[in-house]
Amino acid sequence: MTSFSSTTEAKQNIYQINMARVVRIHSETPDTNLYTFEYVNKEQQKKFSFTPGQFMLLSFFGYGEAPFGICSSPNQTESFDLCIRSVGRLTNALKNLHQESIVGLRGPFGYGWPMDELKGKNVVIIGGGIGLVPLRPVILDILENRDNYGSVQIMYGARCPEELLFKEDLYLWDNRRDIEYVATVDRDDEHCWAGNIGVVTILFDRITISSENTFALACGPPIMYQFVMRELEKIGLPDDRIFLSLERRMKCGVGHCSHCLVGTKFVCQDGPVFSYKVAKTLRGAV
Ligand SMILES: Cc1cc2nc3c(=O)[nH]c(=O)nc-3n(C[C@H](O)[C@H](O)[C@H](O)COP(=O)(O)OP(=O)(O)OC[C@H]3O[C@@H](n4cnc5c(N)ncnc54)[C@H](O)[C@@H]3O)c2cc1C
Ligand code: FES
Repeated sequence: MTSFSSTTEAKQNIYQINMARVVRIHSETPDTNLYTFEYVNKEQQKKFSFTPGQFMLLSFFGYGEAPFGICSSPNQTESFDLCIRSVGRLTNALKNLHQESIVGLRGPFGYGWPMDELKGKNVVIIGGGIGLVPLRPVILDILENRDNYGSVQIMYGARCPEELLFKEDLYLWDNRRDIEYVATVDRDDEHCWAGNIGVVTILFDRITISSENTFALACGPPIMYQFVMRELEKIGLPDDRIFLSLERRMKCGVGHCSHCLVGTKFVCQDGPVFSYKVAKTLRGAV
């Protein structure tokens, strides 16, 4: 785990911003781009590592700083990806980035998915919309080390077919025989989708999930959680084998400013990934 801790605080300046260069930009949807970055300092890039589910704080000069989940494989060392949806001041300004543009980055921060606990277990992954972003590195890691896991089931829902992220990955996942992948869209106004239509929870009727030896990881809009948790509870998954990633507005990213406080926990430092057992105890979390 490369996350911030009190022992590393003494040695590192947690507010240190490091320069990174845009290597590639891929348009995922009309409002969402996938950016590949590499640190300008090659030694720093070599040392870069993260746990799936951790996030970076990206600053673009004159527009501020915001958190984004890392979405490339943790086994990819020469660069790393962030997938960013334009919703406001900073993220709209990022649309002006081009190859060779320079941004500032801090991190990786936070606690990610429980990768060690997942080894040897069945894994169910449920993503809603942009929530697939922090789940992608888990999926890529599992697929790169497929023998280390039991069954793998991926459920993904987007508002409409055009908003499906990582379409090349989705195609590959759909065609793999060693995992089960199901997707749905809320609506298909253009009549271009031959698959399931409805919210992500309809997918619980399309696959059979065993509660035995199974962990579930979920990330999506806040409204998704209560319905997904209800389905997982019906299956009989205990709360400490269900994990979800919370999103709150952040400032410092390292547990100093209280901007991201939910109940008694800092999303930036104690999360963003929490077990459902813990999340349930945090007022307003799920
Ligand atoms: C741990 C974490 C990981 C994230 N990962 C990603 C990611 O991988 N990709 C991605 O596109 N986005 C991600 N986000 C959300 C991203 O940080 C925000 O979209 C970004 O801060 C918006 O900045 P802005 O200046 O463009 O928007 P602003 O101009 O600040 O705000 C635009 C609108 O978005 C709302 N908003 C901004 N931030 C949040 C938030 N955190 N929660 C709810 N509403 C918000 C504002 O209220 C406003 O309505 C993540 C957030 C967190 C906390
Ligand atoms: S963002 Fe400052 S405490 Fe979490």
